[in-house]
Amino acid sequence: MALERSSPCKVNLLLNVLGRRADGYHELETIFHPVALCDTLRFERGGNGVSLTCSDPRLPTDASNLVHRAATAFLESAGISDGVRIHLEKRIPLAAGLGGGSGNAATTLSGLNELFGRPLSPVQLQTLAARLGSDVPFFLQDRPALATGRGEHIEPLDFFPALRGRALVLVNPGFGVSTPWAYQQLAAFPEALNGRPGRAGRLLELLGGTDTRAAAAALYNALEAPVLTKYPILALYQEFMRARGALGTLLCGSGSTTFAIAENADAGEELARRFLERFGSNCWTAVVALPGR
Ligand code: C5P
Repeated sequence: MALERSSPCKVNLLLNVLGRRADGYHELETIFHPVALCDTLRFERGGNGVSLTCSDPRLPTDASNLVHRAATAFLESAGISDGVRIHLEKRIPLAAGLGGGSGNAATTLSGLNELFGRPLSPVQLQTLAARLGSDVPFFLQDRPALATGRGEHIEPLDFFPALRGRALVLVNPGFGVSTPWAYQQLAAFPEALNGRPGRAGRLLELLGGTDTRAAAAALYNALEAPVLTKYPILALYQEFMRARGALGTLLCGSGSTTFAIAENADAGEELARRFLERFGSNCWTAVVALPGR
């Protein structure tokens, strides 16, 4: 019997870097928001070990794939010697700052746990998730969250009143940005590297109100400093969308996707249409409505 699960992505409404740690990671306060743009994963018992197939030929399907690593970690941790077959239908763009791969890893952990009758506890799944990547634990739940540490300590939150009924317009230039590269470049941007703590508290206060513009003005991502400097086209995308009614814009994670907040889904569709008209069809866009008013 096969089990099929959707694997969503995320944006960061805030990514405040609080300095570089001794282990090479960066200390963060970040606010994740789930985005209902999904890959699909199908799990089935059978065969030997982990066998993975993927709709996107650019993704390796060997042990270097995060889904493969998540499945191997799950089977080892649960002491299961049966094989699993997994198929990944990819829709979320790669190296896009949307956490697609991290989400796939989390969905693999929870999907396999269900397929095998829940041998692992939620805490065990969290521990495996944090080992697979900083963003993976967020995807074990389905709400916005405040994350600290390297991003793996998750405090789930309710959906934000200031974003009710709004839409996110995601725009991607058709090239990816390397996350390790983006973090390394922070060394040249001391203010972005050593952000003042407390930005998360301030933004959460605004997101809890009803003034979308005020909240949008407090969106912040430290990685914009290096990424928009190297890829000025992304800053141009942001200006274009703000000049055409976007309430706010921000780079997603380490990029290359930028998101804009639109008044509603119709305004979002119109913004995406004008964006494609201006910047061409090599770009990728998606409009995602946020939970309603
Ligand atoms: O944790 P994950 O493997 O997803 O992170 C990818 C890379 O991003 C790390 O190798 C590191 O270079 C960078 N990173 C960081 N600080 C974080 C999260 C990620 O420097 N808090």
